[in-house]
Amino acid sequence: MLNLLDSIPNVLLLGAGPSCCSPSTYHALSCPTLSHMDPYFIKIMDEIKSYLQQLMDTKNELTVPLSTSGSGGMEATFVNIVERGDKILVLENGSFSERMIDVAGRLGAEVTALHYPWGEPISVEEAAAQLKKEHYKAVAMVYAETSTGVLNPVEEIGALVKDSDTLLLVDAVPALGGIPIKVDEWGIDICYSGSQKCLSCPPGLAPITVSPKAIEVIKNRKTKVPNWYLDMNMIMGYWGGGQSRVYHHTAPVNMIYGLYQALYNIFEEGVDQVFARHMAAHHYLIEQIGQIGWELLVKDERYRLPVVNALKVPAGIDAAAFRSRLLNDYQIEVGGGYGSLDGKVIRIGLMGYNAQKYNVDRVIAAMKEIIAG
Ligand SMILES: Cc1ncc(COP(=O)(O)O)c(C=O)c1O
Repeated sequence: MLNLLDSIPNVLLLGAGPSCCSPSTYHALSCPTLSHMDPYFIKIMDEIKSYLQQLMDTKNELTVPLSTSGSGGMEATFVNIVERGDKILVLENGSFSERMIDVAGRLGAEVTALHYPWGEPISVEEAAAQLKKEHYKAVAMVYAETSTGVLNPVEEIGALVKDSDTLLLVDAVPALGGIPIKVDEWGIDICYSGSQKCLSCPPGLAPITVSPKAIEVIKNRKTKVPNWYLDMNMIMGYWGGGQSRVYHHTAPVNMIYGLYQALYNIFEEGVDQVFARHMAAHHYLIEQIGQIGWELLVKDERYRLPVVNALKVPAGIDAAAFRSRLLNDYQIEVGGGYGSLDGKVIRIGLMGYNAQKYNVDRVIAAMKEIIAG
């Protein structure tokens, strides 16, 4: 009988995520399944919390992987904070901050959005002026905009709201494990990520951290969190109660093993070394694309996201056909552009296990052959 799993192609994932996992992480996924309430599994959960706290640079007790993808992390963030009529400010410069506007709007928030050209960072000055003009329950932004390759100034926005009752909600989906993120120092109240990018674990988990200030807001809601599955009050009962945990839902046990191993790998290599490896791969890519006459979409290097690089496609090259050739002839996946960037950029992710100069060499060699025809 044909088993489709026997013929899964061996693709080098250099797109906007997922990235490839290390063999040790693939092995971890196949360890024997324990009960989600087993004391040994709880030890693994506790260790994951501690690793995530260190990687996010936070003391937040509520720092856990949610059983959902990055979008579920976004949903959890807004559904726990927003009540009908709440004023939320979203700083939009890409498709994921655009998604935030939709998510908050569906919950009945009164959303104000400041829009910026895709490929450019959000403006701190304009955000500051808007925050002076009006009081918001929360300001939301994307730290690492995967859709455009922009790194937004979270620390500066954090400084604007740190000493107020306005919460700072940050999407760090492709950032976690690849570049520094300082949740406490930057004054972030909720920060979520995804397992499949720089953590190099398969998709399906959304690490999230919630500050005591945000927990107060959640506990003092006038209405119940309108989503049972993502209600942080209940998730706290499962992840936070030591050995006396309360069942909420059956955790994806083997995925949690995978995340444990992926985090173990980062700490074994050394967090600073891991960040330096991502940076080195990014700089090497810039050097190499320069040699074939290509350039990055983001002009100002201070706002370049090192882990997802949006490359402008030169005139005369069909971006979709180019990506198809990379996949079909060279088994390399790279990302395309979204919305207004469709056909104009390709995105090369150098995330986690894949952030290596030899992967840059492989994709550049393939690109050169395709360009030469
Ligand atoms: C910045 C950002 N936010 C949110 C998401 C959504 O994550 P997921 O696709 O895991 O639901 C992504 C995924 O690419 C992302 O890059």
